[in-house]
Parts: sequence; structure tokens; C-alpha cells
Amino acid sequence: MPAAVVVLAAGSGSRVGAGVNKVLLPLRGRPVLAWSVTDALAVTDVRRVVLVVRDGEQDEVAQALAPHLGPAEVHLVTGGETRHDSEWAALRALADDIRSGEVDAVAIHDAARPLAGAPLLEAALAAAREHGGAIPVVPLAGLLGRDGRHPGTALAGVQTPQAFRAPELLAAYEQAAAEGFQGTDTASCVARYGAWPVAAVAGSARNLKITFPEDVALAEELTQAR
Ligand code: CTP
Ligand code: MG
Repeated sequence: MPAAVVVLAAGSGSRVGAGVNKVLLPLRGRPVLAWSVTDALAVTDVRRVVLVVRDGEQDEVAQALAPHLGPAEVHLVTGGETRHDSEWAALRALADDIRSGEVDAVAIHDAARPLAGAPLLEAALAAAREHGGAIPVVPLAGLLGRDGRHPGTALAGVQTPQAFRAPELLAAYEQAAAEGFQGTDTASCVARYGAWPVAAVAGSARNLKITFPEDVALAEELTQAR
């Protein structure tokens, strides 16, 4: 069944502080966002790839991406003030395809994680089709609860891509919009409005999120392994 992949790139990268949106920084000769878009296009049975961009950066992004795309079609959508707003913009752009059944599952991924890879996108989508939703998790080391107790396996780090069955995901975001709810990530919005279980898939420390200036050099190093 056909999937959609949403790549979120409509932030500003303020904590990296590069003077340009971090998703446009070069990583081994390709802009950061091009890595995720290329992976999205490589996903088996992907029907739609939506790239959410910051208002005012549409031309810059289109130009930065063009040399890395080939004939593939990527749908540029203008994002919003918050990550949640940007997700909602993407889901509105996909709503017709979701309602008609053209798209059965949607993966939402941060462009700030350029090293996720197509296999993780595919694993998340497959688990979402089976269970309703799927998020990549990684073990967290060195944690201690406020009560002084070790949390054991009760806590895990959460990454993107996060994937969900499309109609349920759209319904959750429609309800969130009606109530003015803003989730911190896709799973948090689904947890509030969805009554279906979300499966964990294996994330990886290599699926680095570029958040601070030092992460750019680290990501560059990790590209060696790709
Ligand atoms: N994002 C988005 N729309 C927003 C805010 C964030 O699409 N209004 C995207 C970012 O482009 C990024 C991902 O969500 O790929 C995760 O957000 P974050 O790492 O916080 O990126 P920024 O918000 O750009 O960075 P900062 O918070 O440092 O400004
Ligand atoms: Mg942010």
C-alpha cells in the first residue's frame, strides 16, 4: 500500500545559530534536508513526499534541492509557527489522498535528522500499518529518577521518523486543530487523541538530531558510515 513521507524543515535552527536555517547547511556536499528527502524518495511504495519549508525560504529550498532530486516529485508546503503547525500543514496537503485511500500510512520525519535512512522509514511505516503507529526509540544511559531510583527500561529516547495509519493520524490532527492543542511531537498528539497502540521500532544513536553547533561536525563524521 502507498505511503507518504513528510519531512519537516520549517524551523529556523536558532540553537545552531548558523545565520541560515540549519536544514540548509551543507553536509558532505548536500544540504541537510536533501538527505531525508532522498531517503524518503527511496522508500518502497512511497506515493507522496511532502517537504515542509519555512515561509520565505521556499525559493532557497527549491534551488538547494533541485541538483539532488532528479525527476522525482517533491511537494513543497509552507510550514507554521510551531512544529505541530508544520505537521498540520503537511497533513492538510495530504488530506485528499488520505480520504481517498491513495495514502494509507504517513511517516513524519525531522529534516534535522539527516541520517535516519530509508530502512528506518520503511520499518516505521511497516510497523504503523500493523499496529497503528510506530516510533523509533533508543535506550538512555545515565538516568536516575528524582526519587533516587534507576528508571530501568521505563524511559527511552524518542526519535523520528514517527509513522501512523493515515486516516487516524489525520483525525487526531483535526481534533487537535479544533481544540487548539499543540503536541511536542507526532506521538504526543496521537497519544492524546488516538486510542490505538504505538509500537517501538529500533532507533539508533547514528540517527543524530542536529540541534547545537557541535552536532553539525558530528553529523559530517557520521556520514562516513553511509
Ligand atoms: N520544524 C518545523 N516547523 C517549525 C519548527 C520546527 O518544521 N515551526 C522542524 C525543524 O525544521 C526540524 C524539526 O522540526 O527539522 C525539529 O525541530 P528543531 O530541532 O527544534 O528545529 P528548529 O526549530 O529549526 O531549531 P531551534 O529550535 O534551535 O530554532
Ligand atoms: Mg525548535
